[in-house]
Amino acid sequence: MEKPDGKYPIHDLLRNRWSPVAFSERLVSHEDLRALLEAARWAPSCYGDQPWVFIVATKDQPDVFDRLLRCLMDANIAWAQYAPVLMMTVARRHFTHNGQPNRYAWHDIGLAVGGMLVQATHLGLSVHQMAGFDPIKARETFAIPEDHEPVSVIAIGYHGDVGNLSEALQARETTPRSRHPLGKFVFSDTWGQVAPFIE
Ligand SMILES: Cc1cc2nc3c(=O)[nH]c(=O)nc-3n(C[C@H](O)[C@H](O)[C@H](O)COP(=O)(O)O)c2cc1C
Repeated sequence: MEKPDGKYPIHDLLRNRWSPVAFSERLVSHEDLRALLEAARWAPSCYGDQPWVFIVATKDQPDVFDRLLRCLMDANIAWAQYAPVLMMTVARRHFTHNGQPNRYAWHDIGLAVGGMLVQATHLGLSVHQMAGFDPIKARETFAIPEDHEPVSVIAIGYHGDVGNLSEALQARETTPRSRHPLGKFVFSDTWGQVAPFIE
């Protein structure tokens, strides 16, 4: 998979991350799983509220894994079934200290997962996040309380062989990755005015 160009160099842990659809059968050790969750745990959060819960399913718990897998859309099941670990992220919607709505809960889950991504890349693991799941089914399946909301499902494992996958998924694995240039989203002075330090 191609990596970001070197125009503005970034750290290898960021540069080497990408979201594969091909996962190998190799299991993730419990030690590495704990490290991933520890990386998430130390993320910053609004008021230090830590509004995240992770529901984790590993292949050595086939029943739990299958229940989490069945919450996904078919297009995601097609490849995520081969990942050895699935995690559902869940946001607590109100602040613990005052019960007010926490409009940063989703932001903070993203930060926690961002930390996990860096740790995963460091450990040679691949991560692929998914919005394509049924939140109502997820709530029922895992008895998620009313004040919490499922946000995403994350597949984690080692990058594998595309051989198990459909031609369409195989093609996706090699599709060039691209991003908007900085000039499209870094503004200064007023909306749409590209910041002067952007070349
Ligand atoms: C919140 C979120 C939801 C996503 N949902 C899906 C999904 O349901 N299915 C999927 O195949 N990829 C999903 N992706 C992966 C993105 O398509 C992928 O991150 C993006 O195309 C950039 O590719 P890269 O991660 O390899 O840089 C999701 C990513 C994020 C962050």
